[in-house]
Amino acid sequence: MPELAHRVRSISPSETLAIAAKAKALKKQGIDVISLAAGEPDWDMPYEAREAAITAVREGNTKYTAASGLPELKELVAEKLTNENKIETTAQNVIITTGAKYALYEAIQALVNPDDEVILIAPYWVSYTEMIKMAGGVPKIIQTSEDDGFKVDLDTLESAITARVKGIVLNYPSNPSGVSYSEEELRRIGEMAVKKDIFIISDEIYEYFSYERPHVSIASLSKKIAEQTITVNGFSKSYAIPGWRVGYATGPADIISTMNNIQSHSTSNPNTIAQIAMMTAIKESKKYVDKMIAEFRERRDFIVDALNALHGFRCQKPEGAFYVFPNVQYYLGNEVGGEVPTDAVAFSNILMDKAHVSVVPGNSFGMQGYIRMSYCESIPRLKEAIARIDAILEK
Ligand SMILES: Cc1ncc(COP(=O)(O)O)c(C=O)c1O
Repeated sequence: MPELAHRVRSISPSETLAIAAKAKALKKQGIDVISLAAGEPDWDMPYEAREAAITAVREGNTKYTAASGLPELKELVAEKLTNENKIETTAQNVIITTGAKYALYEAIQALVNPDDEVILIAPYWVSYTEMIKMAGGVPKIIQTSEDDGFKVDLDTLESAITARVKGIVLNYPSNPSGVSYSEEELRRIGEMAVKKDIFIISDEIYEYFSYERPHVSIASLSKKIAEQTITVNGFSKSYAIPGWRVGYATGPADIISTMNNIQSHSTSNPNTIAQIAMMTAIKESKKYVDKMIAEFRERRDFIVDALNALHGFRCQKPEGAFYVFPNVQYYLGNEVGGEVPTDAVAFSNILMDKAHVSVVPGNSFGMQGYIRMSYCESIPRLKEAIARIDAILEK
């Protein structure tokens, strides 16, 4: 058996996919599992975008596009970034990628040398650590606490930026905590990056799911900050089209062109039909997005109150995204569903096996004693999930 490359030996499989597989297996046995593990909106994509894709198929659109994406889509994305996000950019500095995930992967490949440290704020999205490791880099994790609303302390952040640190991955609103940052906080982070000459990868994929205040893009705050920042976004969450795999990034010209080189030798262009559909999605999205966000805000308010009413649960109200991150430490070492979990992984397995509700343990996001639940299900289904969990808890 040929030996695996050293570079990939420490890459962990995705815990979320393992949970999804278990939920699927139970569903196959006819069990009604309520999935609060998934990170995809249960929302119809813009109708007009679906029609645009059908027309593109009928017209026999089978060709490659430019590796960096359809020029017309790049124009529309550049316009959106300029008008909505106040990021000064042009189509030349935009790359269309196979999901936001691949934009993140390419940006990290373009910037991280072996042994470079990259700062992540815990709890963080699962794939950042593995992407950094795949580039030979070292994730430098800064823990936050529930008492601070899972927000990073900016003095702690500043002192963590040592000479070995090459950059920071920011994600706001955050998956899993929903935390976001104010303009002043972002300005301070941006100024730190400029002063210490580190890159910022700003993953803003949940930008529209901002319930308390308008989303601010860090790259909009000054020209100098923009010169250090790669802004990543996509169509999976805000436009509810995760499976069609279209994301994008903008940033300094040499970084975007390096990402383009990586793309041209790996995936080439993202799916042509999907790119054509996204041109319509971007034009028609407003009316869909507003309705979706109103519904998600209602769900957030419902689930936070319902979880806080459960014995032993404690849940902060997130500012954004579509997840809650409740504290379940009370149950670690206490009986639940006839078993005694010792960590959030065991607790999540009990919820799956006994309540038929799937959730993701906080361990996957670098934090023990918490679980992540998405609210990509209707309020009646969320009510049912809460009732099922309540039924197996200690009274
Ligand atoms: C924070 C964050 N970034 C990026 C992604 C990846 O998005 P995409 O599906 O567009 O690749 C996700 C998906 O769950 C996410 O939660």
